[in-house]
Parts: sequence; C-alpha cells; structure tokens
Amino acid sequence: MSSVLNPPYYDPYDFDIDADPYPVWKQLRDHHPLYYNDRHDFYAVTRWDDVEAGLKNHEVYLSSHGTLLEMIKADMEMPPGMVIFDDPPSHTVYRGLLSRVFTPKRMNAIEPQVRRYCAEMLDSLAGRTRFDIIEELGAKMPMRVIGMLLGIPEEDQQALRDKSDAGLRLDRGDMDAAVHNMSNSAAEGDFGEYLDWRKDNPSDDVMTQLVHAEFTDHTGERRNLTRDEILGYVMLLAGAGNETTTRLIGWTVKTLAEYPDQRRELVDDRSLIPNAIEEMLRYEAPSPTQARYVATDVEVHGQVVPEGSAMLFVDGSANRDERKWGPTADRLDIHREIGHHLSFGYGLHFCLGAALARLEGRVALDEILSRFPEWSVDFEASERAHTSSVRGWDKLTINVN
Ligand code: HEM
Repeated sequence: MSSVLNPPYYDPYDFDIDADPYPVWKQLRDHHPLYYNDRHDFYAVTRWDDVEAGLKNHEVYLSSHGTLLEMIKADMEMPPGMVIFDDPPSHTVYRGLLSRVFTPKRMNAIEPQVRRYCAEMLDSLAGRTRFDIIEELGAKMPMRVIGMLLGIPEEDQQALRDKSDAGLRLDRGDMDAAVHNMSNSAAEGDFGEYLDWRKDNPSDDVMTQLVHAEFTDHTGERRNLTRDEILGYVMLLAGAGNETTTRLIGWTVKTLAEYPDQRRELVDDRSLIPNAIEEMLRYEAPSPTQARYVATDVEVHGQVVPEGSAMLFVDGSANRDERKWGPTADRLDIHREIGHHLSFGYGLHFCLGAALARLEGRVALDEILSRFPEWSVDFEASERAHTSSVRGWDKLTINVN
C-alpha cells in the first residue's frame, strides 16, 4: 500500500509508490492538477482532460528528446527510425512507412498463428496445478509473435528479448539507474546480423519489406531506408511490443482473480472478451506515463511551465479520473462503455501495435479460460516488474483448479 503524503509526493522511480500509485494520483488530480517534482525536476498532469489534450499537442510537447524522463534528462541523441522518439516532419514520414508494412489487415491475418503459439504454450502446462503465467505465456508469446512478423529465427528470439528487456529494467528505484540502463541498451541493440542475412534471404516478413521499401523522406529525397533506420525500426518494434504486452497479460490474470464473478461471465460468454481486454487496458495501464520535452513556455492550470522542462503525462491516472469515468472509475467492469482510454497514448504517437496488442490479449485470455476457468494468485511467490515506464508483474504465480 503506498503512503499518501501531504503535500503529496509522486515519483515513477519509487518502487513503493509504483506498487499502488492510485491514491497519490487521485490526490494529485484533486489538489495538484499540475504537479512539480523538485527531486527529479519534472512536471506531471494526471486528469483525463489534461493528459488527452497534452498528448495531442505535439507542437508544445516534443517526443524527439525521448519519451522517458531519464532520456530527456540525459539529453540523449535519438536513433533514426524510432518514430516514438520523433516529431513531425520526419515522424510523419517514418510512421507512414511503418504503417504501410504493419497494417491491421496483416495483424488480423496472423490470428490463427498467434492462437496456435498460445495453445502450444498452455497445453504444455496440462496436469500442473501451479505455475508462473508470465514465464509460461506472458513473456514468451509477444516475442514469438513479433519474431515471426520480423522474421527472426525462433531459437534466437528469447536471447533478443532478454537483451531488450534488460535495457528497460531498473535494479534500483532511481533515475541514475535508469539513465545507465538506457545508454547500455542503445549500445547493445544488435539485430544487425539478421538484417544482413535477410538482405540475402528475402522472405514475407516486415524486415524484408523494410529493406525493399522505397519512400520520399522529409527532405524530399526518394530512397530506401538506411541500415541504421531499419535497425531503429526493428529495435523499436521489439522494445515497444514485448514488455507492454507481457504486462497486459499479467494484469489480466491478476485482476480477474480479484473479480471472479466477471471471470465466470467471461468463461460462459467469450463474446465479452474484446471489451474485457479494453477495460483491462483502462483499469491497469501497462505503460502508465509518457514523458515529453516542453518546447516553449506554456501555461497549465494558471502556472507557467518553462521551455526545456520535462512533462509527464500520466495516462494511468487519466484512465481512473472520476471526472471522466464517474464514481465507478476504480472498479473493473467488463461491460463498461469505454469509448477510448489513453493506455495506447493519443494523437500522433497513438500505438501502432494496438491492433496486435488487442489481438494477443484477447487470444491469451480466451485460451487461458478454456483450460483454467479458475485460479488464484500466490503473491508470496510473485514479483513486480520495475521499469521507469512500464508497470506490472515480472513473475505471477497462480494456483489453478
Ligand atoms: C498492451 C500492449 C501495448 C501498450 C500498452 C502500448 C502502449 C503504447 C503507448 C502508450 C504508445 C504511445 C507512446 C507515446 O505517446 O510516447 C505506443 C506507441 C507505439 N507502440 Fe505500443 N503498446 C503496446 C503494444 C505494442 C505492440 C505489440 C507494438 C508493435 C509490435 C507496439 C508498437 C508501438 C509503436 C511503433 C509506437 C510508436 C508510434 C509513434 O510514435 O508514432 N506497441 N504504444
């Protein structure tokens, strides 16, 4: 249980706060709609209206200095092709190119394969009464799916995932540790050998398509992507699509154990699953904060936030804002009419993998319910994941009946 201090203190690097940030987020929404943290020198907004409007305002709030607080503070140079760390006009070009190869149609076409992966992983658990669902499914499935899309051989996928996750993980709860991790992971990204191999061995995958894609860049030049640009894309897809989807699967299993009535409804009526996944994303945002660099002085709730500041948009809090969701904001309700939540971001940087993430969440839940209609969580044998931008479970041990 996190403590609520007066005046409140919010810090995304603090493991105790991260364990249950909801009380302090509510305190910020109610009493400090613009919050300033002087220890790490950042501002934060937590209300739905402010988070939604801010994420849309890409002229004032830039992504090109990084979208994690520690990146903005470290003044790191962003690699090319990483659309998530880019602004228009180059963002528009790079994102357009990626959305050409990473289409909802392609995502839907792979559902049978995703289901097969998931079924294989869960079938191997037959007869067991206790296991870690993250290890057995949540961590494996997203890498397998992205690996398949990118064309990375299966036997190498695990090693790459470990490397990419290690770049995000915090060993200690502070910003220095996060900056250290960021610089190491940038140096370590090595999908290069696959790229070189794919050039000589074309196939029907995203990496091959990127190698051959022709496009007009933001300076007006017609060309192919450079090696560095393709590597940027590949690292981004592997980084953005793994850890987050793992956390969604973990939250789904953890939360439904706390709402057994709703779980029973889902067992009996699978058509409720898509909305349940949407509500799960609202209820527990896997990536609850997005940071931005403030490009020009801007007034927020009557106070000037100076140019050069770091602003944190707390979508995890906006998703629970009573002003938007009413008095039941803090309850899971798989029947809720959601419209949209902010867990996939909003505006120009809206998650390009949202269709894939929804598909994976949906299929994972469906296949789990078919084999294990009831379970309980052993929290003593479970562990949190600690990264500065992703929140959830690293190990979630469940007992199944
Ligand atoms: C539950 C799973 C996921 C969650 C919660 C999630 C969340 C997000 C969020 C919040 C953003 C916006 C970041 C910002 O505004 O700075 C984003 C962007 C992005 N996501 Fe996801 N994501 C998920 C899964 C995926 C998957 C599976 C992929 C692809 C394999 C993916 C690829 C991307 C990309 C490429 C962007 C950058 C888009 C841009 O900057 O234009 N994500 N995601």
